[in-house]
Amino acid sequence: MKRQTPHQNWQNDYFGDAYLELYASYLYDPKEVQSETEFVIEALNLNKGDALLDLACGFGKHLHFFLKKGMKAFGLDISLKYLQSARNLIPKIHLRKLSLVRGDMRTLPFGKESFDAVCCLFNSFGYFPPGNPDPYMGILREIRRILKPGGRFFLEVPNKKPVLSMVRNSPQTLQCGNGFLIHELWDYDEDQCTLHNKTTFTIEDRQTRVGYQLYLFSRGELASLFKKTGFRVIQTFGDYEDSPYSLTGSPYLLIVGEKTGTNPD
Ligand SMILES: C[S@@+](CC[C@H](N)C(=O)[O-])C[C@H]1O[C@@H](n2cnc3c(N)ncnc32)[C@H](O)[C@@H]1O
Repeated sequence: MKRQTPHQNWQNDYFGDAYLELYASYLYDPKEVQSETEFVIEALNLNKGDALLDLACGFGKHLHFFLKKGMKAFGLDISLKYLQSARNLIPKIHLRKLSLVRGDMRTLPFGKESFDAVCCLFNSFGYFPPGNPDPYMGILREIRRILKPGGRFFLEVPNKKPVLSMVRNSPQTLQCGNGFLIHELWDYDEDQCTLHNKTTFTIEDRQTRVGYQLYLFSRGELASLFKKTGFRVIQTFGDYEDSPYSLTGSPYLLIVGEKTGTNPD
């Protein structure tokens, strides 16, 4: 089958109007997002008033609930449009405790030791082709730099094994709902450990063809990256309901790291 490779600047197209409309309205479930947010707050051991960065915050669905729980919240995303949507989603009463920043996760525009915690949620870690220097080590080093001593990082990635079985068993998927349809073609590049996707979003009668690529991490690989960049892995989970991580059964790999006292660089 022909590889479902998107073009180099696929992010601009994929995270466009159709994705925003679908995920911010048709597929948005505030109850689910609220319970995810509460889980993240507990795993990060956060208290009211603590400074938290939501890295690749998108249209701000988690930020809303972090603010409701009393955090001083910062959202960083590369898309100005999504940051504007975040500002519209969040009730005015919370806006004074929120900072939204346009930026790239590879070079974070914050001073060292600015945050008590950082999180990166919902498939936002894995967009860069593997290479030398390793882009993910670079991102983790940046996160470590902006964390206070003992600060924590919460990362969600998809669980590699079940994703690969899904791709092997059904390289085409269809998700239908009231007024929308998401048709996806998948394949996996073993050499690059990268999932390639082509998506057609249909909303009412409008079609948008886009695609993405995502590097898939194993738990061992992420744990080793955390260690090499100065994080101690303190917890892993398989979902947002406190289930232990299972290599074949969990939907996600949720991993929590704590900044160690010594910088390995
Ligand atoms: C799958 S969305 C997840 C957004 C949000 N975390 C959520 O849970 O809805 C990924 C986000 O990553 C952003 N993004 C892509 N590349 C980025 C980069 N290099 N730096 C920062 N954000 C980026 C996109 O604009 C998009 O909002």
